[in-house]
Amino acid sequence: MSQINKNTFAITTPLYYVNDVPHIGSAYTTIAADALARFYRLRGKSVLLITGTDEHGQKIERTAAKLGRSPQVHCDMIVEKFAELWSILNIQYDRFSRTTTPNHEAIVKEFFQRVWEQDDIYLSQQQGWYCVSCEEFKEKRDLLEDNFCPIHTNQKAEWRDEENYFFRLSKYQKQLEELYQEHPDFIQPASRRHEVLNFVSQGLQDFSISRVNLDWGFPVPVDPSHTLYVWFDALLAYITALLNAEDEPNLNNALKDWWPINLHLIGKDILRFHAIYWPAMLMAAKLPIPAQVFGHGFLTKDGKKMGKTLGNVIDPFALVEKYGSDAVRYYFLKEIEFGQDGDFQEVRFINILNADLANDLGNLLNRTLNMVHKYCQGQLNAVSLPVNDSVLSEIGKDLGNLVNNAYENLAFDQACESVLTLVRTCNKYIDDQAPWSLYKQGQIETVSQILYSVLESVRLSAYLLAPIIPNISTAIYQQLGYDLDFNTVSAITPNIANHSNWGVLPADQVLGKAQPVFQRLEQITV
Ligand code: MSP
Repeated sequence: MSQINKNTFAITTPLYYVNDVPHIGSAYTTIAADALARFYRLRGKSVLLITGTDEHGQKIERTAAKLGRSPQVHCDMIVEKFAELWSILNIQYDRFSRTTTPNHEAIVKEFFQRVWEQDDIYLSQQQGWYCVSCEEFKEKRDLLEDNFCPIHTNQKAEWRDEENYFFRLSKYQKQLEELYQEHPDFIQPASRRHEVLNFVSQGLQDFSISRVNLDWGFPVPVDPSHTLYVWFDALLAYITALLNAEDEPNLNNALKDWWPINLHLIGKDILRFHAIYWPAMLMAAKLPIPAQVFGHGFLTKDGKKMGKTLGNVIDPFALVEKYGSDAVRYYFLKEIEFGQDGDFQEVRFINILNADLANDLGNLLNRTLNMVHKYCQGQLNAVSLPVNDSVLSEIGKDLGNLVNNAYENLAFDQACESVLTLVRTCNKYIDDQAPWSLYKQGQIETVSQILYSVLESVRLSAYLLAPIIPNISTAIYQQLGYDLDFNTVSAITPNIANHSNWGVLPADQVLGKAQPVFQRLEQITV
């Protein structure tokens, strides 16, 4: 396989279809990708987070026609909505790859030529059932009654019988099996890997990579009467994204700095394209294969599949406007095991945010800072610090490693849970130690030690949660007397390289005033 550079990390979200404004599914993958990108930036890596849009194909062409717009005008309008959502969700992406750019056309042409020269593309007859919403041929046995698509249950698959160009996927059966064997981490989590292995073991069939009767897309370089299939075109936009602004658009330039990608983050419905078609296409072009494809689960609302016809979609814009970006990011990453399906319930959403962020974490900081001001004149006692023998330092010493491992394994829920264990222990520790009584007994030094341990725990928690809740973590750090912002992380990384350790808060730190870092949310009635 490829040489992966240890100091860089290139991660992609899927390139989203622009048939409609962004939905919560797109937001989910992008939030996770952003949290991971922020985590690696904090660890000092050079990170490239790639997102973008997949703009060609029948689905987009038909949507634009229905709305009376030209496809390009339609794409430009929807792209703005994606940019807006990423901005309000506090997503720090480095590249936004659009499949309708001239750069992309150049990359697609060159790539097609390479594969063509390998004799891996040929003309043949395609017959089958096509779901326009999936932009995919379906097996008859996988369709529901009356040929409805199992994923887009309000959409009938259409019968196609036409000449198409085909990619010789079958030729790569053995090479793909070797890839999965030699790199067991290539497909994650394990359940998705099994799914792919199972599918591949049934024997791979060549797939068609062109369409007739479709204008919205790139012409097939060797036969302009055909249009290139949207998936063949879209996957390559991960490569186009790697071009620098000043580069001539060719494969050499695109691949020189960041290829191969470290991680393609996707939803489970597009696993085959990424874990089977994509590596085979790259093998045909004699290019290195990305290190990992991670397929996350699907979100439901109140236990039901979301859909426009069901009228129960979650509008990500409305959610962020109502609750703020940190709250939305936290809920989806903490509440759902990444890789599994997960549910959204507004009542639960509010309960969790109030319990974890307003009560356990926010109140802890608030009451501790107030005690420092009340009992210690706002200044901890430098002589007696640091404190290394409390129940908090015991947890705190190992927490950095534990949480770092969780992030590396995309176990965001475990990262949050581990931090919360420390936070909850702090609350209990204060109640048990009762610094207010110790103060009355004149034990000022002990009070100072207790409060230091708690504030150091809060600092460590804020640091470790910063990839997920950067605004709250920044507010906590600022109240703890640090002049830094987790949203400008590349500028601050060298100064906080050791901050995942215990005992970092300087004993003589000048602390700020206590202010709520997360306002309690009003419970709704259902
Ligand atoms: N355009 C293709 C991807 C091409 S990548 C080269 C595409 N786009 S999409 O907009 O339809 O889907 C984007 C992502 O949203 C997919 O990863 C999909 O899994 C995810 N989701 C769509 N609905 C979802 C849920 N209900 N829950 C979670 N994610 C889901 O596919």
